[in-house]
Amino acid sequence: MRPTAEPWKVKTVEPLRMTTRAERERALAAAGYNTFLLKSEDVYIDLLTDSGTNAMSDRQWSAIMAADEAYAGARSFYKFEEAVREIYGFRFVIPTHQGRGAEHLISRILIRPGHVIPGNMYFTTTRVHQELQGGEFVDVIIDEAHDATFEHPFKGDVDLNKLTEVIERVGPNNIPYVNLACTVNLAGGQPVSMANLHAVREVCDLFGIRLWCDATRAVENAHFIKEREAGYAHVPVRAILREMMSHFDGCTMSAKKDCLVNIGGFLATNNREIYQAACEEVVIFEGMPTYGGLSGRDMEAIAQGIYEMVDDDYIAARIAQVRYLGQQLIDAAIPIVRPIGGHAVFLDARRFLPHLDAGEFPAQSLAAALYLDSGVRSMERGVVSAGRDAVTGANRHCELELVRLTIPRRVYTDRHMDVVAWSVTSLFEQREEVPGLTMTYEPPTLRFFTARFTPCSTGFPACALGGRLESLLHTS
Ligand code: F0G
Repeated sequence: MRPTAEPWKVKTVEPLRMTTRAERERALAAAGYNTFLLKSEDVYIDLLTDSGTNAMSDRQWSAIMAADEAYAGARSFYKFEEAVREIYGFRFVIPTHQGRGAEHLISRILIRPGHVIPGNMYFTTTRVHQELQGGEFVDVIIDEAHDATFEHPFKGDVDLNKLTEVIERVGPNNIPYVNLACTVNLAGGQPVSMANLHAVREVCDLFGIRLWCDATRAVENAHFIKEREAGYAHVPVRAILREMMSHFDGCTMSAKKDCLVNIGGFLATNNREIYQAACEEVVIFEGMPTYGGLSGRDMEAIAQGIYEMVDDDYIAARIAQVRYLGQQLIDAAIPIVRPIGGHAVFLDARRFLPHLDAGEFPAQSLAAALYLDSGVRSMERGVVSAGRDAVTGANRHCELELVRLTIPRRVYTDRHMDVVAWSVTSLFEQREEVPGLTMTYEPPTLRFFTARFTPCSTGFPACALGGRLESLLHTS
């Protein structure tokens, strides 16, 4: 097959610091074995997230120089608004400092105590904002999404029976909106099909319920539709995205992903009343409706990024790089979530470390061990991220216990991916030596960001890695 490469070339580079194993051991202990608490200086290849870690283009940097920093009515806002209108197709646009700013607004506007918000698998910040308003998230994703090994082209799809059952159980008046994420982050970056979006819209229309989109990685979703859904092979991603969005009343958006920038988000809708309410709320929590917590230059960068993200060659190369890493792991028989998702490769920590039980935080342990081995930073997406039930206080049951290797856009080369694949593979060969962790500090919400851990050596007294971690802990 004729090889293809990225449709861009590198103009500026940022040197990376290589660390020794001893330095990484110290850094990891100081970070409480939580990769979120590492200093980025101590990280070689940073696959913590694809959020705000993208490389901007020369055009985005030039747009930044031309930004209008007026407090109100800045020219840069109108460029941003125009880009969102043109590419997403929503009429009313409100900038926010990032995705959760938009989630905060829509949750405050539409959710009342006792409300239920069905969605295709939870996302951490989305659910917290729903719960803060007294709402309850109910998962209506297809069962296959909870099975890391199951190959399904659209694992983000909603199970229409589950959705109808929830609506009939709680009554449509108690459902302010159905919230669909495209793609589904915690399912492994899995897409929703156009057919399913259409069907969910029909169910919502039948009951008179609004349909909202978490459009954070919707361009990646559109690319999967192009690849996998009949009739879309020759449709530009830009048109697929517009068609996807046409099924929704509005969206919340973390521009830090698809839009190829480092900060920003927005709320967009066709509903005038919701827009009006959002204008009233945004001035309290973010800023004027024409800046919403962003500077003019941030809005310029997003506006330009929005046009670049729907370039078919760009998005194909982006997904191809994620697949390049994932395929190497599949070839080495490493358990990962299948099929390979849009923004990340997810290691299945339960199958990777079968000797650890759930209470020893297998995914957190695996993320720590990977950093120790090679300076590659990844993220736990399992029981720590799932947190505790708001009512019972018990750890939430979590089908998936994953480590996410998230690929920033336009940042790393495929050679970096080779280094990551090699490190994961060599760790897999010594997997019995990876010890579990005990949580020593737990914050009340979104605990994964700041929780601290210590290695539990129980059952692994002779384990080389565990022993080293233990001795370190006792000397620090
Ligand atoms: N929705 C999804 C699907 C996300 O992945 C995120 C962020 C948000 C909403 C919130 O957006 O961070 O701009 O406030 N995900 C990041 C991640 C943090 O690493 O997956 P935000």
